[in-house]
Amino acid sequence: METPKNLLKGYIGESLAISRYQIYSSIAEAEKFIYVAKYFREVIENEKKHAEIFANFIKKLEIEPAEVEVKAPIKFGSTAENLRYAVEGRSGRQRSSTRQPQKLLKRRVSRRWLRE
Ligand SMILES: [Fe+2]
Repeated sequence: METPKNLLKGYIGESLAISRYQIYSSIAEAEKFIYVAKYFREVIENEKKHAEIFANFIKKLEIEPAEVEVKAPIKFGSTAENLRYAVEGRSGRQRSSTRQPQKLLKRRVSRRWLRE
């Protein structure tokens, strides 16, 4: 009984991530951090693919809708803060796409570079 609920949780988690990164991308664009906004849009595309994977399993296994408990992080602020939240939200998971926010934070780049 846990697998269907975990698949539903996975789908919801990926869907929430899409929404969260859309907010981050909009904020980065408003702050003229075009490079970071583009990065967040790339992450959105990845999250869409992840959501589709869960959705396909849910469909194939004919999983019925069910109540599930999910953690819904909704922290957002400036672009610098959002990059930090992106890293925090992914701590413990080491996938290649998740290391990118950490690289952006660690790199010593000027604000001008981020806007190019
Ligand atoms: Fe994902």
